[in-house]
Amino acid sequence: MIRTGRIIPAARKESIMLAAEVIRKGGLVAFPTETVYGLGCNALNPEAVARVFEAKQRPSFDPLIVHIADEAALDGLAHTISLNDRLLMERFWPGPLTLLLPKRAQVPDLVTAGLPTIAVRMPSHPVAQGLIREAAVPVAAPSANPFGYVSPTCAQHVADGLGERVDLILDGGPCQLGVESSIASMVGSRPELLRPGSITLEEISKVVGPVVRAPKNLTMVAPGRLARHYATHTPLTILTEQEAQPIMPLAERAGLLAMTEPRHSGHRYCSIEVLSPSGDLREAAQHLFAALRRLDAQGFDRLYAEPCDERGLGMAIMDRLRRCAEPLT
Ligand code: TXA
Ligand code: MG
Repeated sequence: MIRTGRIIPAARKESIMLAAEVIRKGGLVAFPTETVYGLGCNALNPEAVARVFEAKQRPSFDPLIVHIADEAALDGLAHTISLNDRLLMERFWPGPLTLLLPKRAQVPDLVTAGLPTIAVRMPSHPVAQGLIREAAVPVAAPSANPFGYVSPTCAQHVADGLGERVDLILDGGPCQLGVESSIASMVGSRPELLRPGSITLEEISKVVGPVVRAPKNLTMVAPGRLARHYATHTPLTILTEQEAQPIMPLAERAGLLAMTEPRHSGHRYCSIEVLSPSGDLREAAQHLFAALRRLDAQGFDRLYAEPCDERGLGMAIMDRLRRCAEPLT
Protein backbone atom coordinates (compact mmCIF):
# COMPACT_ATOMS: atom_id res chain seq x y z
CA MET A 1 0.00 0.00 0.00
CA ILE A 2 1.25 3.48 -0.81
CA ARG A 3 1.84 5.48 2.37
CA THR A 4 0.52 8.94 1.75
CA GLY A 5 -0.85 10.64 4.84
CA ARG A 6 -3.16 12.25 2.27
CA ILE A 7 -5.98 14.45 3.58
CA ILE A 8 -9.25 14.05 1.67
CA PRO A 9 -12.62 15.71 2.32
CA ALA A 10 -14.93 13.40 4.26
CA ALA A 11 -18.06 14.96 2.80
CA ARG A 12 -17.67 13.08 -0.51
CA LYS A 13 -19.17 9.63 -0.81
CA GLU A 14 -16.12 8.48 -2.85
CA SER A 15 -13.86 9.44 0.07
CA ILE A 16 -15.75 7.15 2.44
CA MET A 17 -15.70 4.32 -0.12
CA LEU A 18 -11.95 4.71 -0.61
CA ALA A 19 -11.27 4.91 3.14
CA ALA A 20 -13.39 1.79 3.76
CA GLU A 21 -11.39 -0.07 1.13
CA VAL A 22 -8.13 0.97 2.79
CA ILE A 23 -9.45 -0.38 6.11
CA ARG A 24 -10.60 -3.66 4.54
CA LYS A 25 -7.18 -4.13 2.93
CA GLY A 26 -5.39 -3.76 6.27
CA GLY A 27 -4.50 -0.06 6.02
CA LEU A 28 -4.81 2.82 8.48
CA VAL A 29 -7.37 5.61 8.13
CA ALA A 30 -7.64 8.63 10.40
CA PHE A 31 -11.24 9.75 10.73
CA PRO A 32 -13.26 12.31 12.69
CA THR A 33 -15.49 11.35 15.59
CA GLU A 34 -17.55 13.67 17.78
CA THR A 35 -14.76 13.54 20.43
CA VAL A 36 -11.33 13.49 18.74
CA TYR A 37 -9.87 12.03 15.51
CA GLY A 38 -9.24 8.28 15.61
CA LEU A 39 -6.59 6.19 13.84
CA GLY A 40 -8.68 3.32 12.53
CA CYS A 41 -7.99 -0.18 11.26
CA ASN A 42 -9.81 -3.50 10.95
CA ALA A 43 -10.02 -4.69 14.57
CA LEU A 44 -10.09 -8.33 13.44
CA ASN A 45 -6.85 -8.10 11.45
CA PRO A 46 -3.88 -8.49 13.86
CA GLU A 47 -1.33 -7.15 11.33
CA ALA A 48 -3.37 -3.99 10.83
CA VAL A 49 -3.72 -3.58 14.59
CA ALA A 50 0.05 -4.00 14.98
CA ARG A 51 0.55 -1.18 12.45
CA VAL A 52 -1.61 1.13 14.57
CA PHE A 53 0.61 0.48 17.60
CA GLU A 54 3.68 1.06 15.46
CA ALA A 55 2.38 4.28 13.88
CA LYS A 56 1.57 5.76 17.30
CA GLN A 57 4.64 4.29 19.01
CA ARG A 58 2.13 2.99 21.49
CA PRO A 59 3.26 0.39 24.03
CA SER A 60 1.48 -2.90 23.47
CA PHE A 61 0.18 -2.99 27.07
CA ASP A 62 -2.25 -0.15 26.24
CA PRO A 63 -5.45 -1.60 24.71
CA LEU A 64 -7.55 0.00 21.93
CA ILE A 65 -11.22 0.99 21.69
CA VAL A 66 -13.25 -0.85 19.04
CA HIS A 67 -15.79 1.27 17.17
CA ILE A 68 -19.03 -0.13 15.78
CA ALA A 69 -21.93 1.37 13.81
CA ASP A 70 -24.78 -0.80 15.13
CA GLU A 71 -25.52 -3.04 18.09
CA ALA A 72 -25.58 -6.16 15.90
CA ALA A 73 -21.80 -5.86 15.67
CA LEU A 74 -21.54 -6.46 19.43
CA ASP A 75 -22.21 -10.17 18.99
CA GLY A 76 -18.82 -10.75 17.39
CA LEU A 77 -16.95 -8.80 20.08
CA ALA A 78 -18.49 -9.44 23.49
CA HIS A 79 -20.06 -12.58 24.94
CA THR A 80 -22.27 -11.12 27.67
CA ILE A 81 -23.90 -7.77 28.03
CA SER A 82 -25.31 -6.86 31.42
CA LEU A 83 -28.54 -5.01 32.06
CA ASN A 84 -26.60 -1.90 33.11
CA ASP A 85 -24.64 -2.02 29.85
CA ARG A 86 -27.90 -2.26 27.92
CA LEU A 87 -29.36 0.70 29.78
CA LEU A 88 -26.25 2.79 29.12
CA MET A 89 -26.24 1.88 25.44
CA GLU A 90 -29.89 2.79 25.15
CA ARG A 91 -29.27 6.15 26.75
CA PHE A 92 -25.89 7.19 25.32
CA TRP A 93 -25.27 5.30 22.06
CA PRO A 94 -24.44 6.45 19.52
CA GLY A 95 -22.26 8.90 21.42
CA PRO A 96 -19.14 9.50 23.51
CA LEU A 97 -19.41 6.58 25.96
CA THR A 98 -17.06 3.59 25.80
CA LEU A 99 -18.04 0.42 27.67
CA LEU A 100 -15.81 -2.42 28.81
CA LEU A 101 -17.40 -5.76 27.97
CA PRO A 102 -16.30 -9.41 28.36
CA LYS A 103 -14.29 -10.10 25.21
CA ARG A 104 -14.90 -12.88 22.71
CA ALA A 105 -11.97 -15.14 21.86
CA GLN A 106 -11.96 -14.23 18.16
CA VAL A 107 -10.92 -10.63 18.88
CA PRO A 108 -7.12 -10.48 18.53
CA ASP A 109 -5.41 -10.23 21.94
CA LEU A 110 -3.33 -7.33 20.68
CA VAL A 111 -6.49 -5.17 20.55
CA THR A 112 -7.18 -5.64 24.25
CA ALA A 113 -3.54 -6.04 25.35
CA GLY A 114 -4.42 -9.50 26.58
CA LEU A 115 -7.17 -8.24 28.90
CA PRO A 116 -10.38 -10.28 29.25
CA THR A 117 -12.44 -7.16 28.49
CA ILE A 118 -12.88 -5.22 25.27
CA ALA A 119 -13.61 -1.48 25.10
CA VAL A 120 -16.43 -0.76 22.65
CA ARG A 121 -17.99 2.46 21.50
CA MET A 122 -20.53 3.53 18.89
CA PRO A 123 -19.57 7.03 17.70
CA SER A 124 -22.33 9.41 16.63
CA HIS A 125 -20.30 11.31 14.03
CA PRO A 126 -21.82 10.63 10.59
CA VAL A 127 -18.39 10.22 8.96
CA ALA A 128 -17.31 7.65 11.56
CA GLN A 129 -20.63 5.84 11.17
CA GLY A 130 -20.43 5.90 7.37
CA LEU A 131 -16.86 4.59 7.39
CA ILE A 132 -17.56 1.71 9.78
CA ARG A 133 -20.70 0.70 7.88
CA GLU A 134 -18.98 0.81 4.51
CA ALA A 135 -15.91 -1.09 5.79
CA ALA A 136 -18.28 -3.67 7.28
CA VAL A 137 -15.79 -4.59 10.02
CA PRO A 138 -15.37 -3.35 13.60
CA VAL A 139 -12.83 -0.52 13.59
CA ALA A 140 -10.15 -0.40 16.31
CA ALA A 141 -9.12 3.22 16.77
CA PRO A 142 -7.03 5.00 19.37
CA SER A 143 -6.76 8.77 19.16
CA ALA A 144 -4.74 9.67 16.04
CA ASN A 145 -1.69 11.17 17.77
CA PRO A 146 1.77 9.94 18.74
CA PHE A 147 1.50 8.10 22.06
CA GLY A 148 1.32 10.40 25.06
CA TYR A 149 0.83 13.64 23.11
CA VAL A 150 -2.27 15.87 23.00
CA SER A 151 -5.16 14.26 21.05
CA PRO A 152 -6.05 15.63 17.58
CA THR A 153 -9.26 17.60 17.07
CA CYS A 154 -8.81 18.40 13.37
CA ALA A 155 -7.31 16.70 10.30
CA GLN A 156 -4.21 18.91 10.29
CA HIS A 157 -3.35 17.84 13.87
CA VAL A 158 -3.29 14.24 12.60
CA ALA A 159 -1.05 15.11 9.66
CA ASP A 160 1.27 17.09 11.97
CA GLY A 161 1.70 14.18 14.35
CA LEU A 162 1.53 11.04 12.20
CA GLY A 163 2.19 12.28 8.64
CA GLU A 164 2.94 9.41 6.30
CA ARG A 165 2.47 6.77 8.96
CA VAL A 166 -1.25 6.92 8.15
CA ASP A 167 -2.54 5.90 4.72
CA LEU A 168 -5.44 8.33 4.51
CA ILE A 169 -6.89 11.15 6.61
CA LEU A 170 -10.61 11.88 6.28
CA ASP A 171 -11.14 15.58 6.94
CA GLY A 172 -14.50 16.18 8.60
CA GLY A 173 -13.62 19.55 10.14
CA PRO A 174 -13.03 20.25 13.83
CA CYS A 175 -14.45 17.82 16.43
CA GLN A 176 -17.49 19.09 18.27
CA LEU A 177 -16.77 17.76 21.77
CA GLY A 178 -12.98 17.93 21.93
CA VAL A 179 -12.29 15.53 24.81
CA GLU A 180 -12.29 11.76 24.49
CA SER A 181 -15.18 9.46 25.32
CA SER A 182 -15.90 8.53 28.92
CA ILE A 183 -14.87 4.94 29.66
CA ALA A 184 -17.13 3.01 32.03
CA SER A 185 -17.10 -0.58 33.22
CA MET A 186 -20.06 -2.57 34.53
CA VAL A 187 -17.93 -5.73 34.71
CA GLY A 188 -16.93 -5.54 38.38
CA SER A 189 -19.14 -5.52 41.45
CA ARG A 190 -19.83 -1.78 41.15
CA PRO A 191 -20.18 0.55 38.15
CA GLU A 192 -16.82 2.23 37.56
CA LEU A 193 -15.70 5.26 35.60
CA LEU A 194 -12.22 4.56 34.25
CA ARG A 195 -11.77 7.75 32.25
CA PRO A 196 -13.91 10.87 32.69
CA GLY A 197 -14.97 12.26 29.32
CA SER A 198 -17.74 13.92 27.40
CA ILE A 199 -20.51 12.04 29.22
CA THR A 200 -20.34 13.08 32.84
CA LEU A 201 -20.18 10.88 35.93
CA GLU A 202 -23.45 12.50 37.04
CA GLU A 203 -25.18 11.49 33.77
CA ILE A 204 -23.96 7.88 34.06
CA SER A 205 -25.05 7.69 37.72
CA LYS A 206 -28.57 8.70 36.75
CA VAL A 207 -28.81 5.49 34.69
CA VAL A 208 -26.94 2.89 36.80
CA GLY A 209 -26.79 4.38 40.30
CA PRO A 210 -23.61 5.31 42.18
CA VAL A 211 -20.47 5.12 40.08
CA VAL A 212 -16.97 4.84 41.55
CA ARG A 213 -14.14 6.75 40.01
CA ALA A 214 -11.29 4.34 39.17
CA PRO A 215 -7.76 5.36 40.15
CA LYS A 216 -6.18 7.54 37.52
CA ASN A 217 -4.16 4.86 35.77
CA LEU A 218 -6.26 2.92 33.34
CA THR A 219 -4.10 -0.05 32.60
CA MET A 220 -4.14 -2.51 35.41
CA VAL A 221 -1.33 -4.25 33.55
CA ALA A 222 1.18 -1.47 34.12
CA PRO A 223 -0.02 0.86 36.83
CA GLY A 224 1.76 4.19 36.91
CA ARG A 225 2.82 4.17 33.29
CA LEU A 226 0.05 6.35 31.99
CA ALA A 227 0.01 9.12 34.56
CA ARG A 228 1.64 11.48 32.08
CA HIS A 229 -0.50 11.58 28.96
CA TYR A 230 -2.21 14.11 26.71
CA ALA A 231 1.01 16.01 27.35
CA THR A 232 2.56 19.02 25.67
CA HIS A 233 6.32 19.09 25.08
CA THR A 234 6.45 22.31 27.10
CA PRO A 235 6.12 21.64 30.86
CA LEU A 236 2.74 22.71 32.20
CA THR A 237 1.79 23.87 35.69
CA ILE A 238 -1.79 24.08 36.93
CA LEU A 239 -2.44 27.27 38.86
CA THR A 240 -4.30 27.21 42.14
CA GLU A 241 -7.80 28.66 42.33
CA GLN A 242 -6.56 31.85 44.00
CA GLU A 243 -3.46 32.33 41.88
CA ALA A 244 -4.20 34.90 39.18
CA GLN A 245 -0.53 35.25 38.37
CA PRO A 246 2.10 32.75 39.53
CA ILE A 247 5.50 33.83 40.75
CA MET A 248 7.46 33.43 37.55
CA PRO A 249 11.23 33.52 37.22
CA LEU A 250 12.14 36.86 35.59
CA ALA A 251 13.56 35.40 32.42
CA GLU A 252 10.76 32.87 31.97
CA ARG A 253 8.76 33.06 28.76
CA ALA A 254 5.38 31.55 29.49
CA GLY A 255 1.96 31.00 27.96
CA LEU A 256 -1.36 30.87 29.78
CA LEU A 257 -4.30 28.58 29.19
CA ALA A 258 -7.18 30.59 30.64
CA MET A 259 -10.66 29.21 31.26
CA THR A 260 -12.31 32.61 30.73
CA GLU A 261 -11.13 36.10 29.83
CA PRO A 262 -8.39 36.96 32.42
CA ARG A 263 -9.64 39.54 34.92
CA HIS A 264 -6.28 40.95 35.94
CA SER A 265 -4.05 43.22 33.90
CA GLY A 266 -0.30 43.64 33.83
CA HIS A 267 0.41 39.96 33.35
CA ARG A 268 3.73 38.75 31.97
CA TYR A 269 2.47 35.99 29.70
CA CYS A 270 3.76 36.01 26.13
CA SER A 271 0.53 34.47 24.90
CA ILE A 272 -2.89 33.68 26.35
CA GLU A 273 -5.44 31.17 25.07
CA VAL A 274 -8.96 31.68 26.37
CA LEU A 275 -11.01 28.45 26.30
CA SER A 276 -14.41 30.05 26.70
CA PRO A 277 -14.97 33.79 27.18
CA SER A 278 -18.36 33.06 28.75
CA GLY A 279 -17.10 30.23 30.98
CA ASP A 280 -19.05 27.52 29.16
CA LEU A 281 -17.45 24.11 29.89
CA ARG A 282 -18.62 22.61 26.59
CA GLU A 283 -16.90 25.33 24.66
CA ALA A 284 -13.82 25.00 26.88
CA ALA A 285 -13.60 21.24 26.24
CA GLN A 286 -14.04 21.74 22.52
CA HIS A 287 -11.09 24.15 22.35
CA LEU A 288 -8.83 22.52 24.96
CA PHE A 289 -6.50 20.41 22.80
CA ALA A 290 -6.17 22.89 19.92
CA ALA A 291 -5.31 25.64 22.41
CA LEU A 292 -2.71 23.44 24.13
CA ARG A 293 -1.16 22.65 20.75
CA ARG A 294 -0.98 26.33 19.76
CA LEU A 295 0.72 27.21 23.06
CA ASP A 296 3.06 24.23 22.77
CA ALA A 297 4.13 25.27 19.26
CA GLN A 298 5.54 28.58 20.48
CA GLY A 299 8.53 27.13 22.30
CA PHE A 300 7.87 28.78 25.66
CA ASP A 301 9.74 27.75 28.82
CA ARG A 302 6.53 26.88 30.61
CA LEU A 303 2.76 26.84 30.24
CA TYR A 304 0.37 27.70 33.05
CA ALA A 305 -3.23 26.52 33.09
CA GLU A 306 -6.13 27.83 35.12
CA PRO A 307 -8.16 25.13 36.86
CA CYS A 308 -11.91 24.75 36.46
CA ASP A 309 -14.58 23.45 38.76
CA GLU A 310 -14.41 19.66 38.75
CA ARG A 311 -18.09 19.02 38.19
CA GLY A 312 -19.72 17.74 35.00
CA LEU A 313 -17.42 18.18 32.01
CA GLY A 314 -14.97 19.95 34.32
CA MET A 315 -13.90 16.51 35.60
CA ALA A 316 -12.67 15.47 32.12
CA ILE A 317 -10.96 18.82 31.52
CA MET A 318 -9.09 18.67 34.86
CA ASP A 319 -8.17 15.01 34.26
CA ARG A 320 -6.51 15.94 30.95
CA LEU A 321 -4.75 18.97 32.46
CA ARG A 322 -3.42 16.95 35.41
CA ARG A 323 -2.03 14.25 33.16
CA CYS A 324 -0.42 16.92 31.00
CA ALA A 325 1.11 18.52 34.11
CA GLU A 326 2.52 15.24 35.43
CA PRO A 327 6.33 15.46 35.43
CA LEU A 328 8.30 13.14 33.15
CA THR A 329 9.60 10.21 35.15
O1 TXA B 1 -13.15 9.40 22.25
C1 TXA B 1 -12.44 8.39 22.20
O2 TXA B 1 -12.57 7.45 22.99
C2 TXA B 1 -11.35 8.34 21.11
C3 TXA B 1 -12.05 8.24 19.75
C4 TXA B 1 -11.07 8.06 18.62
O3 TXA B 1 -13.01 7.24 19.77
N1 TXA B 1 -10.47 7.23 21.32
C5 TXA B 1 -9.53 7.21 22.29
O4 TXA B 1 -8.71 6.10 22.25
O5 TXA B 1 -9.42 8.08 23.12
P1 TXA B 1 -7.34 5.98 23.06
O6 TXA B 1 -6.70 4.74 22.59
O7 TXA B 1 -6.56 7.22 22.91
O8 TXA B 1 -7.78 5.76 24.54
C6 TXA B 1 -8.39 4.56 24.88
C7 TXA B 1 -8.21 4.25 26.32
C8 TXA B 1 -6.78 3.89 26.67
O9 TXA B 1 -6.32 4.69 27.72
C9 TXA B 1 -6.87 2.43 27.09
O10 TXA B 1 -5.99 2.16 28.15
C10 TXA B 1 -8.32 2.29 27.51
O11 TXA B 1 -9.01 3.12 26.63
N2 TXA B 1 -8.81 0.91 27.31
C11 TXA B 1 -9.07 0.27 26.16
N3 TXA B 1 -9.45 -1.00 26.38
C12 TXA B 1 -9.44 -1.18 27.72
C13 TXA B 1 -9.72 -2.27 28.59
N4 TXA B 1 -10.09 -3.46 28.12
N5 TXA B 1 -9.58 -2.07 29.92
C14 TXA B 1 -9.20 -0.87 30.43
N6 TXA B 1 -8.91 0.20 29.64
C15 TXA B 1 -9.03 0.05 28.33
MG1 MG C 1 -5.25 8.66 23.21
